[in-house]
Amino acid sequence: MNDVSLREKSIVMIGFMGVGKTTIGKAVAKRLYRDFIDIDEEIEKKFNMPTSDIFKQYGEKTFRETEKEIIIQSCKQKLKIISVGGGAFLQEEIRNACLSDCIVFFLDLSWDNWKERISLLIDSRPVLQGKNIEQIEELFNERQPIYSEHHSRVSTDNLVVDEVADYIAEALKTAWDIHEPNAG
Ligand code: S3P
Repeated sequence: MNDVSLREKSIVMIGFMGVGKTTIGKAVAKRLYRDFIDIDEEIEKKFNMPTSDIFKQYGEKTFRETEKEIIIQSCKQKLKIISVGGGAFLQEEIRNACLSDCIVFFLDLSWDNWKERISLLIDSRPVLQGKNIEQIEELFNERQPIYSEHHSRVSTDNLVVDEVADYIAEALKTAWDIHEPNAG
């Protein structure tokens, strides 16, 4: 996808589950007049069931294979805003596809702020189920290195959705103007 201009590249949101990738992604999509793709929703549509049932009936391996297939396909599309699940970047092929075809934003929320959200997330996130808070914190810390592969990081602590979305949209417009000044 090297022939795609910076302005046309799709934008990918990464970060730990529950940091707001979908909500913020939708808000960025509105600001940039782009379509939004939620990868978890696409996987659920394919199986016609919620993620926790996919994990139960087909297992995590099948979920991860489908996740990879759909992300690689979605990254080839131009002008989208894409939110990927918090475990997607564990797969090297996904990281490579996102980083080479798209612009990747890491939504970085601190553990202290994240842990306040846990009760809202636990029922719909099979990866969290059966773990105590220490084990979840361990998973949170273990996952951080995979998110360090990104193009831009936004610390979302103490920011509301609109503030993060404004920041991302403005950052992109600045980058487009600097790198492709005559393109639009
Ligand atoms: C997962 C995160 C979830 C979803 C699945 C597995 C993970 O997405 O893909 O439950 O392994 O971190 P969100 O990050 O949108 O919660």
